[in-house]
Amino acid sequence: MAAKKLLILPGDGIGVEVMAQVRRIIDWMARKRKIEFEITEGLIGGSSYDVHGTPLSDETLAAAMAADAVLLGAVGGPKWDDLPFDVKPERGLLKIRKEMGLFANLRPATVLEALADASTLKNEVVAGLDIMILRELTGGLYFGQPRGIDTLPDGTRKGYNTLVYTTPEIQRIGRVAFDLARKRNKKLCSVDKANVLECTVLWREEMIKLQKEEFPDVELSHMYVDNAAMQLVRNPKQFDVMVTENMFGDILSDCAAMLTGSLGMLPSASLGEADAQGRRKALYEPVHGSAPDIAGKDMANPLATIMSFAMCLRYSFDMAAEADLIENAVKNVLKGGLRTADIMQPGKAKVSTTVMGEAVVRELDKLNA
Ligand code: IPM
Ligand code: MG
Repeated sequence: MAAKKLLILPGDGIGVEVMAQVRRIIDWMARKRKIEFEITEGLIGGSSYDVHGTPLSDETLAAAMAADAVLLGAVGGPKWDDLPFDVKPERGLLKIRKEMGLFANLRPATVLEALADASTLKNEVVAGLDIMILRELTGGLYFGQPRGIDTLPDGTRKGYNTLVYTTPEIQRIGRVAFDLARKRNKKLCSVDKANVLECTVLWREEMIKLQKEEFPDVELSHMYVDNAAMQLVRNPKQFDVMVTENMFGDILSDCAAMLTGSLGMLPSASLGEADAQGRRKALYEPVHGSAPDIAGKDMANPLATIMSFAMCLRYSFDMAAEADLIENAVKNVLKGGLRTADIMQPGKAKVSTTVMGEAVVRELDKLNA
């Protein structure tokens, strides 16, 4: 088997610390499960701007295009807040998603048993929760043209963005959504704002057509995005797979993250179109950001990024057994009572980023024995 080409982009802030823990897990997989990785590391975001004057260099982008999978930490921080818009750290992230064609963003929100009490919601509302938010990632309001800030003849200014989707864009994200639903509980909820926005009227019509023509075995429902946000905190277990527009998905996935106790627990996978061999370009990153307030203090939660690597093994390398191993190791570490600050609960042991990473490796050893 050819070595798996991994590009690692730690990025900014806590991205660097949490990725250091993922490196331990990768090393463990290489040593103990004899998986051959060819690893390169690169810069993205503010740390790339500091060196290259751009948040995503051509060199990093080329490496991403050539990789079997990209692992990303997080980008951004106050240090770069005053940069011009087009070189802000976030532009690097948006550009790599767009250039790699990663239109399908899988954001699973799973409440691990040991953490059901860490959520701000009542235990019975979130216990056992296992939902998948599928966010369209390369279109919609984030990328629509025209966009900008203009000065009008009278000296006032106008800021604008465009919400736009074409039928092929809706169909390709729709197919991923129905496919995911088919592999789970065959229930898909499409989230839109069809009572106000024409673009999402089209979205709804296309989803209905797709269901009739290609996925009659999947039950399709629709919900307005404001109601969906409310339902996510009222009764999240009514959902299984949700599919939605780029910005709606950005907002709903942060909301779903808190059901699980902390943003520090949520992994994500961003996938492109399958090629003739069935392989997809892919990037894996935690849903959380660079958390500048706690960066460099060895207190960030590395579990979302570690579980993003598990998703990488599952979706890019078809290694379900190894992915399960990582997820089970994480579950056991939490059952054992270790907690980073963000998920700290009374009676548990508060540990650093590093100690959490080491604990996952020790648990992998036990599970693999
Ligand atoms: C996310 C983040 C990004 C987004 C930012 C950092 C550009 O919030 O991945 O959810 O808005 O997509
Ligand atoms: Mg977000």
